[in-house]
Amino acid sequence: MLYQTLILGAGAAGMMCARFAGPGTLVIDHARAPGEKIRISGGGRCNFTNMYAEAKNFISANPHFCKSALARFSQWDFVALMDQHGIAWHEKTLGQLFCDGSAKQVVAMLVQELQNAGAELWLETSVTSVSRVEQGFSVTMARAGKTQVLTCRNLVLATGGKSIPKMGATGLAYDIARQFNLPLTETRPGLVPFTFSDDRFKPLAGVALPARLSNARTTFDEALLFTHRGLSGPSVLQLSSYWHEGEVITVNLIPELPLYDLLRDQRQAEGRRDLTTELARLLPTRLADYLSTDLRLKGRLADQSDAALQDLCAQVSNWQLTPSGTEGYRTAEVTLGGLDTDALSSKTMESKSVPGLYAIGECVDVTGWLGGFNFQWAWSSGHAAGRAI
Ligand code: FDA
Repeated sequence: MLYQTLILGAGAAGMMCARFAGPGTLVIDHARAPGEKIRISGGGRCNFTNMYAEAKNFISANPHFCKSALARFSQWDFVALMDQHGIAWHEKTLGQLFCDGSAKQVVAMLVQELQNAGAELWLETSVTSVSRVEQGFSVTMARAGKTQVLTCRNLVLATGGKSIPKMGATGLAYDIARQFNLPLTETRPGLVPFTFSDDRFKPLAGVALPARLSNARTTFDEALLFTHRGLSGPSVLQLSSYWHEGEVITVNLIPELPLYDLLRDQRQAEGRRDLTTELARLLPTRLADYLSTDLRLKGRLADQSDAALQDLCAQVSNWQLTPSGTEGYRTAEVTLGGLDTDALSSKTMESKSVPGLYAIGECVDVTGWLGGFNFQWAWSSGHAAGRAI
């Protein structure tokens, strides 16, 4: 059987690509259902894009690579598609757009679009091998206990990254890339909680607050969550994508307030007040207690010297921590790195050295921030390849 286009992976990027590639396209996936990551994303509401999506929200060895695809299929193009299907949505925070109802609506929309475009979808189908032939590519696959061999002119790698292997993530795109000598950049888990080897944060598990997290590369102002094993929450997930093993991170627990001035004024006005009680007015009580114990803070405000207040402020606004690691691919939302963008055309996502071979979505070395950016990359890169085919 000869197909014009075979897309490996019926996730966000693969289905979007099929919509534009049209008749003669077959999408295959080893899962029982398409778009499983879409279904579970955003707590079941799918943070499908971000109003402010632009190149600066993406991490890649080549920060310019994503620009062309993002410009030609933008967040507003995806919003228009949602509107066309009557799927209600809202902005949650920071430009993050979520479904009012269910993420399943997005999956259903993509399947319908793919079918309307004349493309086919085969589920529970796995790839056994791929080889180069005169017409394009020969792909051997296993489906319903049988071996099937298909030929296609164009082969699109859309099998995503390594995150959440329990959900069927595999390294297939990387393996095929290696087979065709396409270069890969180092892959590692991104948007992932930090872990610490000791139990130091156990007493704080569940405490959440707005915070500023930074390292030598960048800074994020978003919520921080203490967990039994370490740190999580949006600011941590964001910073994790810019963090390398062994590096220090800086946590500012009161980014918006001039803490030293506040405490000094309070010492003047309410000197009899207990220091920990004062701290608990500014921070969650459990965190204030924890810091008081850790810093051996005792006594009334009036008893504190300027130097003691400065020490306290340094600890609260410049807390230096070295995570022992991350939760890894088990919980990471994305995989950083992947197919080296140098090997691909930024306009079409086609390999420069293997005509007819395309790579889109998370398997490419383009990773978005938390907040709908990764789906936007899947839509934009899927569109770029689908249009080019
Ligand atoms: P995706 O992973 O979606 O699809 C790949 C497909 O290939 C899957 O259907 C898989 O079954 C299939 N496949 C894999 N190996 C195969 C093989 N060997 N043979 C056949 N098929 C194979 N992003 C965002 O922007 N907003 C959000 O709200 C969230 N939320 C979120 C929550 C959670 C828990 C996770 C894990 C991730 C997110 N993300 C997110 C990230 C987002 O899900 C991700 O970036 C995109 O799904 C990537 O789209 P792709 O199509 O590239 O891969």
